[in-house]
Amino acid sequence: TNRTFTMIKPDAVENGHIGGILDKITSAGFKIVAMKYTQLSKRDAQEFYAVHSERPFYGELVDFMTRGPIVSAILEKDNAVEDFRALIGATNPTEAAEGTIRKLYATSIGENAVHGSDSDENAAIEGAFHFAGREIY
Ligand code: GTP
Ligand code: MG
Repeated sequence: TNRTFTMIKPDAVENGHIGGILDKITSAGFKIVAMKYTQLSKRDAQEFYAVHSERPFYGELVDFMTRGPIVSAILEKDNAVEDFRALIGATNPTEAAEGTIRKLYATSIGENAVHGSDSDENAAIEGAFHFAGREIY
């Protein structure tokens, strides 16, 4: 499809980068079709990241993602999932390309400023996890 799901993570919100990140997103041609400022519960974060539940960093990831507010959004653009992954850059900011959101705003492999869905299927699942149908334009 032409939609993806993103979160501006607690580190980027704490560091004052909501505006800078939204500017990068909209300047790259993504249209915002849903957006909210919210805080994940432990249960929300555990469920959202269930795919990583056996990884050694799972507990740290859940603690990080719940420690403060986030901005979650559904974005629309042709080739949205792939183009958004390119815009955010590699998971580890030291490996992220120049000009990518993670290169600009992430501080570590764990606290990496933004999430981007990794497939059309997961974009749909993640968008529906965060937004009711009436919240999506
Ligand atoms: P997302 O868009 O957030 O899903 O990132 P990604 O697809 O680039 O990475 P992945 O799905 O493999 O990991 C999900 C998230 O777990 C990452 O974005 C990090 O926040 C966190 N993470 C991944 N690897 C590590 C790690 O080695 N240590 C820690 N502390 N966190 C990690
Ligand atoms: Mg991922």
